[in-house]
This record gives sequence, structure tokens and C-alpha cells, in this order.
Amino acid sequence: MTDNFRFHLIPASPTDLAAEALAGLRARPKRLPCKLFYDEAGLALFEAICATPEYDLCRNETALLRTQAASIADAVGRGACLVEPGAGGCEKVGLLLDALAPAAYAPLDIAGESLERAAQALAARRPGLRVTACAMDFLADLERIAPLLPDGRRVFFYPGSSIGNFTPEEAIALLARFRRLAGTDGGLLIGFDCKKHPGRISRAYNDEQGLTARFNLNLLGHANRLLDGNFDPGGFAHHAFYEPVEGRIEMHLVSLRDQTVRIAGDEISFPRGETLHTENSYKYLPGEFAALAGAAGWAPAGEWLAEEAAFAVQHFRAA
Ligand SMILES: C[S@@+](CC[C@H](N)C(=O)[O-])C[C@H]1O[C@@H](n2cnc3c(N)ncnc32)[C@H](O)[C@@H]1O
Repeated sequence: MTDNFRFHLIPASPTDLAAEALAGLRARPKRLPCKLFYDEAGLALFEAICATPEYDLCRNETALLRTQAASIADAVGRGACLVEPGAGGCEKVGLLLDALAPAAYAPLDIAGESLERAAQALAARRPGLRVTACAMDFLADLERIAPLLPDGRRVFFYPGSSIGNFTPEEAIALLARFRRLAGTDGGLLIGFDCKKHPGRISRAYNDEQGLTARFNLNLLGHANRLLDGNFDPGGFAHHAFYEPVEGRIEMHLVSLRDQTVRIAGDEISFPRGETLHTENSYKYLPGEFAALAGAAGWAPAGEWLAEEAAFAVQHFRAA
């Protein structure tokens, strides 16, 4: 292990996950938390989705970070401690490191094994960068990282339009938690997908290769393993559509027959045609998002837009 690498495991409570899953499965419509997408297979499928012609979010954001890195660094400031919730393979940060020259980097992810691999490899490539990786559910335990973070001005980096997976109210609450942890001199650099032609949005979640369908169905197998369940993925169909009133993609798994599933010590019935809501992906106009971040205590301090304003990266300072 390199000197500049630290790895912390902040274990989630299995009873909390069971309670959260059962509360969702007893609700109407039924739902499961979207963090269940990310086992090793889910992470690999997500990477493959990013390479499909239909899923332009990733390409748009990557192109922005690559071409605008110097301008982003001028706005964000150099030498900070970058904190990245849901860092995955720590790839996007790699596009900024030369320009941004952070003193430290703290990636957080629920998929602990792949996070450890990716963060350790990054630390080995960048001996001057302190890397403190935390395997954790940041929704449950974000505040527990405070004593683990290296010194320095804290800048939250939250790319990938992951903020779109929360309702606007939940997004404000999460951004306010980032704001409290970042402190009065903190920053936020965030990427989100924008409202555009509904057909284009919808296609991104219905790729021809069927990878998004496999990604959606993979959640059932992961739920089975973590929660002692017996979902049959063959008994459900992927269904994703853009809902323009809410401004969001809704991803569902629709039951193809009457069935009863055993999970987390309970039995849940799915009549044929009933849906299990697995994910939302909200889309924002740049101004809408700035207002939302404002409600969480962040003041706008920079914006970079992809072609046709299809995707935005915005920078905020503590208000
Ligand atoms: C859609 S991927 C995005 C990865 C990367 N940020 C990017 O933009 O390419 C979402 C990542 O967030 C992680 N994740 C999702 N929910 C999480 C949670 N509650 N706590 C920690 N990590 C989470 C997943 O494991 C996955 O690596």
C-alpha cells in the first residue's frame, strides 16, 4: 500500500437496509432503493451503458470536464480537499486532477471492493495526492467522514447527474448536508443532465442493446443476495419513460405474472402488471438547478454547458 492511501470501511447496518427495503415494498407504488443497483455486475453494466450511443450524459459530461478543466480549476481554486460521493471507478476526477491540483481526494462509495481497487490505483499513479477512500452508504453516514478527512478547503465533487436520482426536496436536503460538511469556505462542483427533447431523454434509458434493462433487472439479484430474497428477474420487465410534468425519467420493473416474493423475512405479492419503481432521474434547466442549490445554501459561482445545453456542470460556493 502506498503512503498516500487510506481506506476506511464504514459498515452499513443490515437491519436498516432490510427495514428500508420492506418499507418500500409495502408502499404504493412499490419501490426499492436505487443504491441496490450497484454490485460488481451493476457497476460493470453502468460502465457499459455509458459507452452506448443512446446514453449521452456520460459523454457530454466527460467532454466538458476534459475541455473546460482549466477554467473549472480557475473557478474552484487549487489545493483543496475534493470529496466525491458515489465516486465509482474514480474516473471523472482523473480529468480534473492536473488542472485542479487538489491536496487531497476522498472518494466515497457503497461498492467498497471496487472503490478500494480504483482509489488505490489512483494513489499509486499520483504520489503527491493524499487519497482517503471510504466504503460506505453516504446517504446514511455522510457526517461520519468529518474526522477522517484530510485538512484543506473542502470541495464536493458530485458528477454523473447522480443528484437527479433524488426528488427536488431530497436533493435540497442532500446538498444542504454537503454544504454543512464543506463549511463556510467550501465549494460544490456538480454535473446534471438537462431538460431537452423527451425522445432523446427517453432513448438514453432504453438502449437498443438492452443494457439498461439488464442493469434494472440486476437490482433484483442484488436484493436477493443482501436480503435473503427469491425474486425471479425473469418474472419482471424493464420499463422506463420520461414524465415531463415532474421532469424525470421513471424506471420501473413490471411484474409479468401473479407472484409472491420472499424477502427480508417477509412475503410480498405482485399481481400481474404491478410495478416496482426502481429509480427516478430528474432533469433540470440550468436556472432551475441553481435555484435548487440556492435553497440548500449554495451560491452560483460558475457554469459550463455541453452542446445544445444538453448537460451542465455548475460550481457553487457556500452562500
Ligand atoms: C451512476 S454511478 C456514477 C459513478 C460516477 N460518479 C460517475 O459519474 O461516473 C453511481 C455510483 O454511486 C454509488 N452509490 C450509489 N448510491 C450510493 C450510496 N447511497 N452511498 C454510496 N455510494 C453510492 C454506486 O455504487 C456507484 O458507484
